[in-house]
Amino acid sequence: MCGIVGYVGKRNALPIVLEGLKRLEYRGYDSAGVVLWDGEEIKFEKTAGRVAALEKKISNKPWQGNLAIAHTRWATHGKPSDRNAHPHADCAQKIYVVHNGIVENYLEIREALTREGHVFKSDTDTEVLAHLIERPFLATSGPIALEDAVLDALRHVVGTFGLAVISKDDPQKIVAARRGSPLILGLGDGEYLAASDAAAIVEHTKNVIYLHDNEMALLTPQGLKIFNLSKKTLEKPVDTINWDISAAQKGGFAHFMKKEIFEGPAALENVLRGRLLEKDGVSKLGGLESVRDKLLNVKRILITACGTSYYAGLIGKYYFEEIAKVPASAEYASEFRYSNPVVDESAAVILISQSGETADTLEALREAKKHGALTLGIVNAVGSTIARESDAGIYNHAGPEIGVASTKAFISQLGALMLVALFLGRQRSKIPLNLGEKFVKELKGLPAKMEWILKKDEEIKKLAKKYLKHKNFLYLGRKYQFPVALEGALKLKEISYRHAEGYASGEMKHGPIALIDENFPTIVLATKDMVYEKIISNIEEIKARSGKILAVATEGDDRILKLVDDVIFIPQTLEMLAPILSIIPLQLFAYHTANLLGLDVDKPRNLAKSVTVE
Ligand code: AGP
Ligand code: GLU
Repeated sequence: MCGIVGYVGKRNALPIVLEGLKRLEYRGYDSAGVVLWDGEEIKFEKTAGRVAALEKKISNKPWQGNLAIAHTRWATHGKPSDRNAHPHADCAQKIYVVHNGIVENYLEIREALTREGHVFKSDTDTEVLAHLIERPFLATSGPIALEDAVLDALRHVVGTFGLAVISKDDPQKIVAARRGSPLILGLGDGEYLAASDAAAIVEHTKNVIYLHDNEMALLTPQGLKIFNLSKKTLEKPVDTINWDISAAQKGGFAHFMKKEIFEGPAALENVLRGRLLEKDGVSKLGGLESVRDKLLNVKRILITACGTSYYAGLIGKYYFEEIAKVPASAEYASEFRYSNPVVDESAAVILISQSGETADTLEALREAKKHGALTLGIVNAVGSTIARESDAGIYNHAGPEIGVASTKAFISQLGALMLVALFLGRQRSKIPLNLGEKFVKELKGLPAKMEWILKKDEEIKKLAKKYLKHKNFLYLGRKYQFPVALEGALKLKEISYRHAEGYASGEMKHGPIALIDENFPTIVLATKDMVYEKIISNIEEIKARSGKILAVATEGDDRILKLVDDVIFIPQTLEMLAPILSIIPLQLFAYHTANLLGLDVDKPRNLAKSVTVE
């Protein structure tokens, strides 16, 4: 959540960092601020609200300068307000800090600093950082480098940070540091940037360095230095971003979410590219080669993630049990990490995360490692913390997912899980060659079937309009389609704010059926599969209570037409691959519902794209 952008170089820093903030808006925020060195003075402005509100406040100020840092805030301590927006300064108004994360021990620090005479102006935890950095300057008359003051300050901090600091007394430096909140460094031609993610940097340079936890960077017009919090200089590899700024722009779509739904087929192609060997009916996963032998010996697989990624994991559980015949389970990461999991080196823990920075999933990873488990990451954001801290893994290569509601990433995650299951299944000789070939062939044919569904966009928009008056929905599915029901319900509730509950259809009669009447419609995943007849029974039960039904069904199924109020047909495919198709109508249904309600589809209220706090 929230974002940081810093620039130092030859150009005017202000438009660069403000544009960078706009590229980070999708991460979710409630306030924005900027601080700039104009060659003589520090200038800053901050505000509750959008980056546009910040721009309006400085529109009549002809600020120029070669160094600036900017911030979007997702409030954790102190309500969203102008005074609580970042940057925060020290008493002397010389040192300015922007921060992502939480200073967990801020109260005791604030009390100690107040006793020393520091005066606080905000209700935030962040402000203690500015005064902590100020303290060494007050304690000695000699010169102190800004980076040394920041190092001294961070030794007192418990909690998480991604931060950037500038000072009036050292005005050609940006000091950046991270622990638990992402920071990426951009290396341009005589200019250097720091940001929360690549979207804010990529239009200036594709050469980046991923700062790791407990590392600090010193950015000046002359270059970049990186060291650990003991000030040991570190040599870091320079990576190259493999997408360009257009991937982080709407490309003619009204919203990022719509664009990313339509990128679903490409996302599936990208995760499969170069990883399917049709003749051998197997997947080739370079990212797992280093742990190939360990994988052969694991006795069970535990998948852990949050939100949409967790729902993908629920489907992955079926893949591992049905294809690789390995006992598998899926758990919420936020539950796993506190459940004292019975996990050891005989288990593989798979962490699924689009952003690779989700705090609960990252902590679950660390918990699994403490227990000696083999950890595998299925991650989209290259160089992210979960990707780096996992023992091995595979990248989704889905390109940046900007819309807060995850769409193409979910489809890519299912593709990745299928690849890993095939890898294990063939490695353990659990699937015959012909079945492996069948899976590979069908996987390769899915993008075309996805395109066939996307052509129904207008039809689905009409259905969203028809059901717009309803404020409550039940989503039902069985087996592979049960997690799709959960995910479809999540899509609707998180962007349209309509109440939507995903449920195992077999469980409906154990309670939720009490909800059903003509004002409480049900969306049913009713594709032709081994549990189809059971779904038909559920549909009959709903109809007997005057419930309206919108079904997602298999093309050519005439029977369902007679039973339900509305149908969205999808092509036939293998039962276990059907979720890759059946989720698309639900993504579009949610998108159109939110859009028809005039809501902010890409930045829904209260939500952040990457939940980097617990
Ligand atoms: C899904 O639409 C939401 N944005 C949210 O549930 C998300 O899936 C969850 O926060 C996990 O994010 P991650 O995949 O980046 O870890
Ligand atoms: N905890 C800080 C605050 O509430 C930073 C929040 C953020 O990550 O934006 O201001």
